[in-house]
Amino acid sequence: MSDSFLPFIANESSSRRKQEHLRTVLNEDVGFKGVSTGLENYQFIHQALPEVDLDGVSVTAALFGKALNAPLIISSMVGGIDAARQLNRNLAQAAQAVGVAMGVGSQRVGIDDPGTAPTYKVRDVAPDILLFANLGAVQLNYGYGVDQCRRAVEMIGADALILHLNPLQEALQPGGNTNFSGLLGKIEKVCRELPVPVMVKEVGCGISERAARMLVEAGVAAIDVAGAGGTSWSEVERRRTHTEMDKNVAAAFASWGIATADSIVMVRRCAPGVTLVASGGISDGVDAAKAIGLGADAVGVAAPLLKAASVSAESAVLALQEIIKGMRISMFCIGAANLKELKGTPWLRKKERR
Ligand SMILES: Cc1cc2nc3c(=O)[nH]c(=O)nc-3n(C[C@H](O)[C@H](O)[C@H](O)COP(=O)(O)O)c2cc1C
Repeated sequence: MSDSFLPFIANESSSRRKQEHLRTVLNEDVGFKGVSTGLENYQFIHQALPEVDLDGVSVTAALFGKALNAPLIISSMVGGIDAARQLNRNLAQAAQAVGVAMGVGSQRVGIDDPGTAPTYKVRDVAPDILLFANLGAVQLNYGYGVDQCRRAVEMIGADALILHLNPLQEALQPGGNTNFSGLLGKIEKVCRELPVPVMVKEVGCGISERAARMLVEAGVAAIDVAGAGGTSWSEVERRRTHTEMDKNVAAAFASWGIATADSIVMVRRCAPGVTLVASGGISDGVDAAKAIGLGADAVGVAAPLLKAASVSAESAVLALQEIIKGMRISMFCIGAANLKELKGTPWLRKKERR
């Protein structure tokens, strides 16, 4: 996540923040309270006569000109601290072995302290994957510009840049960067001048129809909704803050955000042509298939894969394979032989309220 712009001390506190985020996400319940992804409100209508061969069900995809064995992205998470080095390498090895994409965590620390750049670098273990660099969009209001974006991309040999939007998290975290005014024009400039595509994502509160329309007009190549229902950053920050008041304020946001399913539908409705990634609380193949059935082109998964990668690269491979297997069986049971057929399936329905 992006951090406060106080050149020297901030670097130290950025690393500490990252460390605390990692520890909190790995050890505590930081799920939303009272909000879910909304994907449970949708149901595939089972087809007992699917008329396809499971062995022939293909989940291959292409994103930003790179072939993927499955439409999955390991969402941006860590970097800049010692523990991140092995985690990123485990995630990257898994992505390379399975043939999926991956993003590294915010590279703010790596830009401000180039000595930490190795904690983000994974190309030696993942030469072929679609790899995303990552910076907080709000940094564009705190001294960053196209140059820092280019350096983030070059630092890791990325194919594209993710700019994350996290107003709620910045507002809740001590010393957060909360000046989000006039950001759109700066995002537009990055889209225009950076030599690689730019994807914009939230971090767990979803993208509204209005935000999507603005981002598409700014020229973003893709949007990742990162909706509500999975990791809640207000819950993460609630665990980290020290004053009673800050804890109470954070607690009041435990159900804030646009549910992942609603955000997918909203963004797809207003931006039919944009490359759309669904993420936020997706951890199994059925939900991944539903997200694509609702109009996403690919699916992102963060915390569940971090937990697997904290064990080993092999655990992360197994976690990815489990999602893919569930996705392929879902497609088989509705007679969708490939992602195009899944995206256009007539067999995904909103459940009727009883
Ligand atoms: C430990 C951790 C660190 C994260 N750091 C970043 C980050 O630096 N940049 C970013 O764009 N998103 C970051 N995220 C947000 C995720 O990419 C994702 O959008 C969010 O966690 C929702 O996905 P999930 O429900 O599958 O965890 C982070 C998530 C976790 C769990």
